[in-house]
Amino acid sequence: MKKLLLFLFTGLAAVAGDPGLAGGPFVAAVTSKTATIVWLVRSGEVSVKAADDDKNPATVSPSIRVEKTTLTGLKPNTRYEYSVPGYSDAKGSFKTPPTGDTPFDFVSYGDNRTRPDVHRKVIAAIVSHGVPDMVVQTGDLVADGSDTLLWTTFFDIEKKLLSQTAFYPSLGNHEHHAQNFYDFTQTAKPYYSFDWGNAHFSVIDTDLDNVSPVETVRAAFWAEQARWLENDLRTHQQSQFRFVAGHHPPFTAVASRQGDNPHMRALTPLFETYHVTAGLFGHDHNYQHYLQNGIHYLTSGGGGAPLYDVDKPPVGITQKVVSVENWVSVHVDGKTAHVRVFSINGDVIDEFDLQGWALPKPVVATAPVVVTQK
Ligand SMILES: [Fe+2]
Repeated sequence: MKKLLLFLFTGLAAVAGDPGLAGGPFVAAVTSKTATIVWLVRSGEVSVKAADDDKNPATVSPSIRVEKTTLTGLKPNTRYEYSVPGYSDAKGSFKTPPTGDTPFDFVSYGDNRTRPDVHRKVIAAIVSHGVPDMVVQTGDLVADGSDTLLWTTFFDIEKKLLSQTAFYPSLGNHEHHAQNFYDFTQTAKPYYSFDWGNAHFSVIDTDLDNVSPVETVRAAFWAEQARWLENDLRTHQQSQFRFVAGHHPPFTAVASRQGDNPHMRALTPLFETYHVTAGLFGHDHNYQHYLQNGIHYLTSGGGGAPLYDVDKPPVGITQKVVSVENWVSVHVDGKTAHVRVFSINGDVIDEFDLQGWALPKPVVATAPVVVTQK
């Protein structure tokens, strides 16, 4: 495979006293021709403590600046290596998406917040299994999206994985729609989509409660996003696979949460109309797999957050529910995608195939052959 070494220069490298990396590097918004390489720089910090607290040490919270550069003119299905001069550990690589039916791998996981030691084990398990071409994170990256310090922990734990793959996150309720999410992950909008090989991925913002305290504003956002999603799915019927990723799942085996997320259940007819292959969700800290009207609904919220019971599996649609830390691995190959779900200990806890479905590509009209008689 042809490799290209990309040297990315930053003026900061010349500054005496390297302030160090606070996150990354990683790559975002990858297409077959373009990519944005992102790294976070710790530009300062603030020390804070309660004025009347003489016992506990001050908390140190960093000030972070986002650096990025966008590349164009890339080739499909090609691995590129990069380094950021001036930092001892700012190297990485990524692979551009293939076109057509070329095989690729991706993983999905979510809810990495709160238990960094467990989060670290999940990421180590993914890396040891083989770094995927890209990652779909299903939300709740951190316990509080407004807290800058927590993001440095997230990126530290994810470093070995994200420095070798492309990263596509979704908003969880713990992100609180904080600007940090958009800045640090270089996600331009709360919902977006992208193509990878013969698959299309629609990433939506399911966190309606944090959109606004005003009900009419929430309703307007949801209607706007639903219109966008319908158009996005309708215009990608010629992809073999359509995955919809987000945080809140439409179904749950957690008894105390059943009845939550009616806005998500209301979307399922849309999924059926436009032949969604599978939904990738989080929020519940366990693994759940449902099959309803031909669509697979996966909840993989076992990326580090404290586990929840799976004490009331929905009747009639449940394929598998397990209360364990986990991650989802998908190998897409032509018209079949093979899914394996791993526990944090490396056990395969679920395994199944997804079948592609696509409208035929439109026939490109060619000029009529003109035969002349001599
Ligand atoms: Fe959540």
